[in-house]
Amino acid sequence: MSTPPTPLPDAHPSLWSVADDWVFLNPGSFGLRLQTVQARRGELLSQSESQPVEFLERTALPLHQQSLDTLAAFLGTDPARLGFVSNATEAIGAVLSSIGVGKGDTILIGDQVYGAVAAACEWLTRNGGQVKRVPVSLPVRSTSDITAAWKKAIADGATLAIVDHVTSGTAIVQPVSDIVSVCRDASLPVLIDGAHAPGMLELNIDAINADWYAGNLHKWVGAPSGAGFLWTADRHQSIVRPLALSHDVFESYQMAFAWQGTRDITPWLVVPDALMAIEQRWGWLALRQWQHDMACWAGERCAEAFGTEVADGTGGQCTGAMVSIALPADASSKFADRFALRDAIASRHRVEVAVDDQVGRWWMRLSFGAWNRPSDVDAAIDAMRDCLDRPVE
Ligand SMILES: Cc1ncc(COP(=O)(O)O)c(C=O)c1O
Repeated sequence: MSTPPTPLPDAHPSLWSVADDWVFLNPGSFGLRLQTVQARRGELLSQSESQPVEFLERTALPLHQQSLDTLAAFLGTDPARLGFVSNATEAIGAVLSSIGVGKGDTILIGDQVYGAVAAACEWLTRNGGQVKRVPVSLPVRSTSDITAAWKKAIADGATLAIVDHVTSGTAIVQPVSDIVSVCRDASLPVLIDGAHAPGMLELNIDAINADWYAGNLHKWVGAPSGAGFLWTADRHQSIVRPLALSHDVFESYQMAFAWQGTRDITPWLVVPDALMAIEQRWGWLALRQWQHDMACWAGERCAEAFGTEVADGTGGQCTGAMVSIALPADASSKFADRFALRDAIASRHRVEVAVDDQVGRWWMRLSFGAWNRPSDVDAAIDAMRDCLDRPVE
């Protein structure tokens, strides 16, 4: 067993919005903010609430542009290809509704797809289209196996592919550039679901060369809930619009996204504060490396404790800031569903982890932020063992 990574310097949990009586190992579901980012957002929100016209019609305009510019530099793209939205769900919805997915369409999604994305696709194709899943078996043994699975599925024909950059419950960093290139060869448009990637991975979105890229900023960038974006390739900008169609819908892509009705846009405006705060305190590269090391170490430790394996069977090539570990095979027979196990761990131990279900096999997902310590992983193992040993209190 490798030694645990040393905690990041100058990373006391009190810097973050995290509650001090919880072991929080799930920023992969909903991220946390640095207190300084939270405070800046609070200032902007009170300006907005005290003189909303001054704020929304005047103060916010240059801040919005500055935020887009800073985000674009961080993501490796041009601000003209970005529009802010509330979250990845909204970004994906905007693409699906703009391109008019429905009858006669076949949408390809991965079999480890996030449930809400699968549900949106099923809904839109309920009157005649179809949703097909690309099977990728676990543990993943190589990135080329993933690309090969997509290549095989694409050969049967489809109208749209939705590919996770990082899978949700199984925490696999997928080879999106290779998958996009396979899609390009088949002239198949591809939407990357990057809900987990910004912040967790170094990104150059333009170089991925997809048609659309949907991203969250509340998970791994540390911006407030309500900050996400949609990247659209230039060739599609004339048809893609946000879900909230407003005054400027007939204007450019950029203008249509800039005003989406009256809403709280302060989460968008503090994105530069979130990016800068991490860069100044640890540097994004150092933070990512530490998160990766924690995830790899935690995976090894948990797999040994449970006598199981991690979903990324490549030795860490597909691991970012989270890791999923298989639970003992009988775990799923002990609780009504995976949420009941997750909630038992939370209510009995004040430990927050995610539990995923892949066709009846359950997985524990741990995600790491700078506030975490190796002892948090032991707390998660103990809490999981207790709940599996005593499913009923
Ligand atoms: C892969 C993936 N896609 C989409 C989403 C949706 O994100 P949000 O709820 O922020 O829209 C999630 C959320 O965890 C996710 O993991």
